[in-house]
Amino acid sequence: MKRIGILTSGGDCQGLNAAIRGISKAFYREFDDAEIYGILDGYYGLIYGKYKKMNPHDFSGILTLGGTILGTSRQPFKLMRVIDETGIDKVSEMKKHYAEMGLDCLVVLGGNGTHKTANMLGKEGLNVISLPKTIDNDIWGTDVSFGFQSACDIATDVIDRIHTTATSHGRIFIVEVMGHKVGWLNLYAGIAGGADVILIPEIPYNIDKVAATMLERNKKGKRFSIIAVAEGALSAEEALMKKKEIKANRRGYPSVSYKIADELSEKTHCEVRVTVPGHFQRGGAPCAYDRVLCTRLGAAAVELIKNEKYGYMVGIRNGEPVPVPLSEVAGRLKSVPLDSEIIKNARKIGISFGD
Ligand code: F6P
Repeated sequence: MKRIGILTSGGDCQGLNAAIRGISKAFYREFDDAEIYGILDGYYGLIYGKYKKMNPHDFSGILTLGGTILGTSRQPFKLMRVIDETGIDKVSEMKKHYAEMGLDCLVVLGGNGTHKTANMLGKEGLNVISLPKTIDNDIWGTDVSFGFQSACDIATDVIDRIHTTATSHGRIFIVEVMGHKVGWLNLYAGIAGGADVILIPEIPYNIDKVAATMLERNKKGKRFSIIAVAEGALSAEEALMKKKEIKANRRGYPSVSYKIADELSEKTHCEVRVTVPGHFQRGGAPCAYDRVLCTRLGAAAVELIKNEKYGYMVGIRNGEPVPVPLSEVAGRLKSVPLDSEIIKNARKIGISFGD
């Protein structure tokens, strides 16, 4: 008998169900007497005992389904060791429910915060394996996380569509792309969508340089400009500020893009508009690339279970699934390297990073 529990944790993304399906199909085929428990709403379900025994047919027809059939929630790592308002010790409850289900392994699908807790549970003696999920692509130890390519396709489509209306009206358009503290999603969508300026957190921008690029384009007779702005983008001044000071600096603006829009309309006297696709980028079916990636990662996770190799995330490196120790992944962020080929080549074709 082999029994695993699966949970999805943190912000959802495309491909969670495809990965769950990949794990379950490989798992049921690998072990004759196989049981899977679905743990509901992420670590919340493990803490508060919300789980159910799944049947093979529960995993049918979910390859293309967006969201997660198990539900998810954000349970901040920094609160995991804090006793909750009803007096519950979350870590010992998670261990209790793991034992109650009689699990051989807990399979966790999540992003950065999720991996900190997964690593902690491993250190507490649970057998844990994880898969890298996030549209932000900021998980250390893997070249790519699932959800990223699907979100990239959506953000690119937004920029494509904005192009036509920007051209008609001769406006500057800002498209704000998700990505939390890193610029991967904005960088890829910006290049794919042909943005003229790409602003990412890793390269603090100078608004005068952005304005100069806009005016330069006008001089060349270009009717419009597209600026792809990462939600985490920072001006050179903000890059030196504390979180609270940045908040104060942006008072009155819903996000960084609106501040940039105000400043640009003042400096260029052009019409500026902002589009924020937001959670749209995380919704709907996974793209073909993510479906394949999730299927491979799911099957590779079962290979680790078969070999009783616990305490690893299955990452992708140089196109191959590889086990990466959770202790190496937890607490590390994968930012866009400033000297990366993609940044250099983007600059070579004339994309400005506002620096
Ligand atoms: O981590 C994925 C992500 O979509 C980020 O890009 C974004 O900053 C954040 O989650 C939004 O979080 P929430 O869904 O909790 O609003």
